[in-house]
Amino acid sequence: MKVLVTGGLGFIGSHTVVELQNKGFEVVIIDDLSNSSIDVLEGITAITGKTPIFEKLDLKDKLKVETFFNAHKDIVGVIHFAASKAVGESVEKPLLYYENNLNTLIYMLKSVLGLQASNFIFSSSCTVYGQADAMPILENAPVKPAESPYGNTKQIGEEIIKDTCKVNDNFNAISLRYFNPVGAHESAKIGELPLGVPQNLVPFITQTAAGLREQLSVFGDDYPTPDGTCIRDYIHVVDLAKAHVIALQRLIDKTNASNYEVFNIGTGKGSSVLEVIKSFEKVSGEKLNYKFAPRRAGDITKAYADTSKSNNELGWKAELTLDDAMRSAWNWEKKIRNL
Ligand code: UD1
Repeated sequence: MKVLVTGGLGFIGSHTVVELQNKGFEVVIIDDLSNSSIDVLEGITAITGKTPIFEKLDLKDKLKVETFFNAHKDIVGVIHFAASKAVGESVEKPLLYYENNLNTLIYMLKSVLGLQASNFIFSSSCTVYGQADAMPILENAPVKPAESPYGNTKQIGEEIIKDTCKVNDNFNAISLRYFNPVGAHESAKIGELPLGVPQNLVPFITQTAAGLREQLSVFGDDYPTPDGTCIRDYIHVVDLAKAHVIALQRLIDKTNASNYEVFNIGTGKGSSVLEVIKSFEKVSGEKLNYKFAPRRAGDITKAYADTSKSNNELGWKAELTLDDAMRSAWNWEKKIRNL
């Protein structure tokens, strides 16, 4: 069964391609290499023994997208990762983000509607909840006004898909709302490859320990949490990748409860920034150089998932721990830095 993975050479995309191939799917990747490297294909091949089909293609090129789908009418499902994801950059360049994330989504959906099997998995984010009023966060928690154009593209993207589902009975879609994806494949053959200075906590930690950054700034120590630092739900990227395979299989098997569904993908456990640092120090044996710094604008105090819907209805559960994630992230960092 042939599956299209857009953004399949990116961080979450590449781990999902591995899990799809492990389950016997034939994978076609579309990626424009704007935030990924062609070398990732080698890592995927080394882990699975199979090289996915790869097309370098910019999804904003509507005609090329149409031509691609005409050549691959036998696709049974699409997992759509390709999108820009830097929050700060999206504030600086809103039109770039709306164009990259929404035009491409619309072109994809138009093409998917023309397939025999219109099954679609969308990369959404817990960012749609903003600072939720209650923890843990349920899927039916209110969607708060987006803090950034990036967050807005995820909210609008979900709406576009939902409206499309309403008028197309044969179109089936699932939005997966990721909490904080971290870690790397245990083989250390694929992992996260941030461009420039990492904005996210875990790659900043591993790069600091590897000597690329001098010191981690912990943004805020006076939040109303037990140790004063922010709390997030850190989900191992391999568990997250498996959620995509399960969601796709659900659509293929037609076991979905309605033609548009939303699931939280997290561990259900909140960890503070200091707990993440402690986990890293424990599994790596390295002492991390960090200091407390002022709060980062736009950060929320805490966000962690209620995972009962994904556990009970989707039949997926996170299996790996924060320690597993930090160990694999560190092994990956050491591998790419030749440490
Ligand atoms: C961020 C984005 C979110 C996006 C997600 C994707 C922001 C405000 N939010 O989430 O929209 O969906 O990435 O992965 O950018 N921290 C430090 N020092 C650092 C970096 C981070 O203390 O150098 C802290 C942050 O204050 C936060 C936690 O670590 O409390 C996690 O930060 P990060 O990895 O950037 O994720 P989010 O902010 O949750």
